Amino acid sequence: MPATLAIRLAKDNARALVLAKRNAMAAGLRDRHSREIVGRIVAMEEFQRARLVMAYCSFGSELATASFMTRVHQSGKTLVLPRINRQTNCLDLYAVGNLEEDLVEGMWGIREPEPRTCSPVSAQALDFVLVPGLAFDFGGGRLGYGRGYYDKLLKSCLDSGARPCIVAGAFDLQLSERVPKEAHDVLVHAVLTESQHIVC
Ligand SMILES: Nc1ncnc2c1ncn2[C@@H]1O[C@H](COP(=O)(O)OP(=O)(O)OP(=O)(O)O)[C@@H](O)[C@H]1O
Ligand SMILES: [Mg+2]
Repeated sequence: MPATLAIRLAKDNARALVLAKRNAMAAGLRDRHSREIVGRIVAMEEFQRARLVMAYCSFGSELATASFMTRVHQSGKTLVLPRINRQTNCLDLYAVGNLEEDLVEGMWGIREPEPRTCSPVSAQALDFVLVPGLAFDFGGGRLGYGRGYYDKLLKSCLDSGARPCIVAGAFDLQLSERVPKEAHDVLVHAVLTESQHIVC
């Protein structure tokens, strides 16, 4: 079997395993751990220094990000959220000033910025990026949902010379000794869970 195919299969297996474990977590526990994780993220010096902060609207059994987005606004920072561009298959970024009014339901029911009311933001301008994902390792390896949206976005940041702080918030059950990696996978700088602050 070609090496790339083997890695892709390993990624798919790991995705299914972690997703099943994460989906099995009780909603109350997910909320409690989400609050603990958000508390750790906003305590980071890199977050406190940041002006443009990218986040994502959580769905399903993901870390609940609503309180993080509110904290970004309360800290006087600019909140940046992604919108899937179906033509380019990339993420377009917008500054979101009002979480009630500026978001519309996008693909998979995930809320996205409404482009008519939000201003576009360049990926190069980001200071701090909270990335989603399924599994993470201690070396900064990240396994996403398999679409390459975040790998492409982060590559475009890095290629432009920007050096945003890239952080994942995840539950302990999403940590793995080593996630399968390909050359295009961009590493995260830190993974924060309900019990750990991992600097990668
Ligand atoms: N920089 C890139 N340029 C072009 N294609 C890319 C790039 N990065 C990733 N891809 C493509 O995206 C697809 C999915 O990649 P991968 O399995 O790493 O997704 P993922 O990391 O789980 O997803 P995401 O980045 O959305 O969280 C792969 O086919 C890969 O070739
Ligand atoms: Mg990847």
